Amino acid sequence: MKIKLYNKIAKCGLDQFPAGYEIAEDLAEEDGIVVRSADLHEVEFPAALRGIARAGAGVNNIPLDVCTQKGIVAFNTPGANAQAVVELCIAALLLTSRKVSDGIEWSRTLAGREDALKVVEKEKSRFVGPEIYGKTLGVIGLGAIGGGVANAASALGMRVLGYDPYVSVNAAWMLNPAVKKVDDLDEIFRESDYITVHVPSLPSTKGILGGANLAKAKEGVRLLNLARADLAVDADILAGLESGKIAAYYTDFPTGALAGKPGVIATPHLGASTPEAEDNCAVMACRQLAEYLECGNIVNSVNMPCVRLAVNGGARVGVFYENNEETDGALAALLAGGNLAKGTRGGVSYVIAERTAPFDLDKINAVGGVIRTISY
Ligand code: MLT
Repeated sequence: MKIKLYNKIAKCGLDQFPAGYEIAEDLAEEDGIVVRSADLHEVEFPAALRGIARAGAGVNNIPLDVCTQKGIVAFNTPGANAQAVVELCIAALLLTSRKVSDGIEWSRTLAGREDALKVVEKEKSRFVGPEIYGKTLGVIGLGAIGGGVANAASALGMRVLGYDPYVSVNAAWMLNPAVKKVDDLDEIFRESDYITVHVPSLPSTKGILGGANLAKAKEGVRLLNLARADLAVDADILAGLESGKIAAYYTDFPTGALAGKPGVIATPHLGASTPEAEDNCAVMACRQLAEYLECGNIVNSVNMPCVRLAVNGGARVGVFYENNEETDGALAALLAGGNLAKGTRGGVSYVIAERTAPFDLDKINAVGGVIRTISY
């Protein structure tokens, strides 16, 4: 098998691939891709390509629709870098409160001055900022990262409101009971002193920090964005900072419009930049891709149904197809006689079948609606 790397991937991740795999940045006709933040939207994928593993959570650098049409499975690594992002978010909460970054910047100007300590005492009042204890934090998105931030902030004595209409049962179980779940996004904007977003960039979430939402926010609200640049409307953020409606905006995605502007505290997409997170993501991404390439099992896909079937030997086949009764019926007949697991996501179904007798791949591929068949 050939694995093409579009970014540098930790060795402990690459070690997840079985011996004999060819792994390099410079490859053609690859079976799999491992990527971090490289943009794949303009990439012409080879016919051999079966899977793309993103070492990270966000998948806006992968053309998911194209992948689905071609029967290419895209994976991400939910939770693998959550701790890193949670920790930076807690730092960001403090940075938007206490004027730490301005203070550090200003302190540099004291270099070499005899009277530095005197000047410090005289000028320190310029850098006063409030405590977070007892303040209200609104968390939008309660997945591994948002949930972790909510719990950590709660432990630091903040009152935490959480909003996530799609929260999973697992994520809800992990939440500190002190975190108040709200059903109305307006409540987050109306009541919070601090608001942090932890949702993917989707048509439904783009600009969530902007427009009518911001208009409802408290005067002097502090905003945090460690998720994606386009969740915020730069012009609205700048207007809010200018008018005082927004006291500070922390972003891990400094656009040209925001960088260097008063009230903007920016870092260069450092959320997941810890050695631990890079290793965790690499291991999870490569392990998932390897499992899929070896036996067709799919875990943590963002575009295909997640399906697993124990490997017991014999002939094994994975089939992606457009979900309709006719295709289902025709495939059921061709795949019968052994073990079978099936899942559906949107309009696409995926079935893994295993049995002693070989499968007739030509007949399977001839069934109307079949997108791709892979035998193992
Ligand atoms: C993520 O999507 O996992 C984080 O933003 C970090 C990254 O892009 O690598």
